[in-house]
Amino acid sequence: MARHLITSAIPYINGVKHLGNLVGSQLPADLYARYLRARGHEVLFLCATDEHGTPAELAAAKAGKPVAEYCAEMHGVQSELARGFRLSFDHFGRSSSDQNRRLTQHLAVKLFEAGLIEERSERQVYSVADGRFLPDRYIEGTCPNCGYDKARGDQCENCTKQLDPTDLINPRSAISGSTELEVRETKHLYLMQSKLRDRLAAWIDEQEDWPVLTTSIARKWLFDGEGLQDRGITRDLDWGIPVQFEGAPWTGMEGKVFYVWFDAPIEYIACAAEWAEAQGKPDAQWERWWRTGRGADDVRYTQFMGKDNVPFHTLSFPATLIGSGEDWKLVDYIKSFNYLNYDGGQFSTSQGRGVFMDDALELLPADYWRWWLLSRAPENSDSEFTWENFQGGVNKDLADVLGNFVSRVTKFCRSKFGEAVPEGGDWGDPERQLIADLSEGLARYEAAMEAIAVRRAAQELRALWVLGNEYLQQAAPWAAHKEDPARAAAIIRLALNLIPVYAELSAPFIPDAADTLRAAMKSKAGWPADMEAALRTLPPGHGFEVPEMLFRKITDEERDTWQARFAGGRG
Ligand code: MF3
Ligand code: ZN
Repeated sequence: MARHLITSAIPYINGVKHLGNLVGSQLPADLYARYLRARGHEVLFLCATDEHGTPAELAAAKAGKPVAEYCAEMHGVQSELARGFRLSFDHFGRSSSDQNRRLTQHLAVKLFEAGLIEERSERQVYSVADGRFLPDRYIEGTCPNCGYDKARGDQCENCTKQLDPTDLINPRSAISGSTELEVRETKHLYLMQSKLRDRLAAWIDEQEDWPVLTTSIARKWLFDGEGLQDRGITRDLDWGIPVQFEGAPWTGMEGKVFYVWFDAPIEYIACAAEWAEAQGKPDAQWERWWRTGRGADDVRYTQFMGKDNVPFHTLSFPATLIGSGEDWKLVDYIKSFNYLNYDGGQFSTSQGRGVFMDDALELLPADYWRWWLLSRAPENSDSEFTWENFQGGVNKDLADVLGNFVSRVTKFCRSKFGEAVPEGGDWGDPERQLIADLSEGLARYEAAMEAIAVRRAAQELRALWVLGNEYLQQAAPWAAHKEDPARAAAIIRLALNLIPVYAELSAPFIPDAADTLRAAMKSKAGWPADMEAALRTLPPGHGFEVPEMLFRKITDEERDTWQARFAGGRG
């Protein structure tokens, strides 16, 4: 029994996530959380929405809603989709929570007291008509490079050239359209990350078991040109965590909020506090997950994320925690993912390209997607979603292997012996061999899960399903039944017992199918400690029901229809 804290990168609030987002963080985190719970560990699995920053403000403006209202609504939408995909968060929080505001402000003060935050003066564009400083992307004008007249102050969308707001010809406010812009002096807070380089480098060096994808990105950022630069952690926005608050050790920061990448990872901690509050538990209950001096010493903390998030988790967030001088729990293992591509290109939220979480659940139940995505997770390289691969994977693995086994065994039993486990004779060599093979396969499956080797785990699980099918094929109870019904009954007794075992082992990947199998077999045995004993759990006479079709096949016609439907984007 161990204690596992698990977090998934928190998704941006600005819209429904696509399947590439899902498989790069939330879904594998859920797989791991479900596995560890099934093995009897104590798990706290947290996720939240990332609600601050310009993307949230812009999305709200586009939807024509006040940003707070937009975020509340989208949090509801994302929670509902998370439930639809059976993501088993203990809490799905919000980075706009009171807990995160208090904690973010608290950590900023601690960093300031440690001499790690400095005030710097900058010259920045101020819009007189809007009464505010404008972030770069809130300034529009004509691109000096291509002449496009809606270029933004950070980049021209037309020719992709990176811009500075002062490069723009005829600049205007993107909020009001006003051209009454001035350059004014303003103060910002900078986090002196460079002062923490040695401590961070030493900490990264300790992480001998981290995947190379993770540590190589961290080292690159620590030592290369861009390196661990001091970074501005405040922005001129209305929406976010206020920088000027009661007890703040600085003045003159009215109208500014913390930079979204400063407060977002702090939400991992705040989310635990939100969880405790929602459960009516005292603060000590979340602190035992997060403060080493209050019980978190024996917690193992694992984070899941896409590779673009790695620098923030290996450097920026640890810099915040280490720099505070307090006893915050640091991550023990970072599992990062490459990208999932869509049909010869990239998934794209801005272009609506690919399959999004809501689309997916409209087409098929969650398990189909969970299985396909996890068994093809982009671990060692990018991987690709095509409708043909998806159809092939679902039909071959789920319908032909697992579904077929369950259906053959239960239907054969019903027709020959009725809907109860038959008695039959003793087991012989084929059964002993099967049990030995299953035991070895189970050990390999567990090892892959412990290592969070997602694709390998899926292969090992599938191999266990295949063993059942092969046994059935060779033992051929339908043939045996003609000469020796007792022998057929013994075979079926074993095969029926295998179904609840499959349910437990498959549940982290396909939780709904697992529940269907548990209900049909009237058995919820838990993780098999010993394969032989597990296969004797259902005694002769134990009643069951033939489950409804566990997985249906995707037809060629559906495949083609869906491919065509999604070719045009989300519009
Ligand atoms: N919202 C970010 C993204 O989707 C992830 C934030 S993770 C956190 O890329 F650490 F900042 F919380
Ligand atoms: Zn341009």
